[in-house]
Amino acid sequence: MRVIVESSPEQVARMAATFVAALVRKKPTCVLGLATGSTPLGLYRELIRLHREEGLDFSRVTSFNLDEYVGLAPSHPQSYRYFMQHNFFQHINIDQRNTHVPDGRALDFEAHAEQYERRIKDEGGIDLQVLGIGSDGHIAFNEPGSSLGSRTRLKTLTSETVRDNARFFNDPAEVPRLAVTMGVGTILESRRCLLLACGRHKAEAIRATVEGPVTAQVTASALQLHRDVIAVVDEDAASSLYRREYYCEVEQSQQALQAGKLKFGA
Ligand code: F6R
Repeated sequence: MRVIVESSPEQVARMAATFVAALVRKKPTCVLGLATGSTPLGLYRELIRLHREEGLDFSRVTSFNLDEYVGLAPSHPQSYRYFMQHNFFQHINIDQRNTHVPDGRALDFEAHAEQYERRIKDEGGIDLQVLGIGSDGHIAFNEPGSSLGSRTRLKTLTSETVRDNARFFNDPAEVPRLAVTMGVGTILESRRCLLLACGRHKAEAIRATVEGPVTAQVTASALQLHRDVIAVVDEDAASSLYRREYYCEVEQSQQALQAGKLKFGA
């Protein structure tokens, strides 16, 4: 796993945006996997800026979101569809028909989940999946104990996640207990994963993800099995990493190599 440590959440957003923007420029018909929550907000702001100021073109991009709360209509201000519309889609030139968010009010969740997986396949698979991480190490809503081969399905949220997400709701009792979420197996099929984390409250989850054993108790640790994962984290989220210095040395060597400045010893 490539680990990039940035000085601030703003720098994390800028760095993450360079990866997304490079893909959109190289492959205008790319398929993006998107996340909600606080962490990717800076990334979306930066991509909106690149769209406005540099003409970054999303007109042929397709997107699939990771998850949605069960029971919330797309117009509900806490639904993930609403979040995506207001924080990203309506500010760029993506074709709304090419944006996909699981339906939290599907009548038959099993059929809906299968259809969601099929849609992803029909579009040729996800080129780049943006991921946040829960303080319990979850990716999407794959809570501890989720199968590392899991596919899109219903999942019960842990009380820790319900507590973490209560900050977005007027009343903690309103936080849905169920979500429809891509599985760990679905995520691992993405061609590249971009994992973002900011803040000290994510430090332990990041340590377990990058340096801990691969375990269903920390579903993000399954990313160790993926050949192309880039974790972009701020200093606080990196603060529990044992090999932090080494990850920084790897980045320095990489930059020197790209700039043609690497000195080879005798
Ligand atoms: C959201 C998602 C979740 C969040 C995670 C972190 O679509 O899939 O896994 O990424 O709960 O949330 P924040 O960024 O709010 O700390």
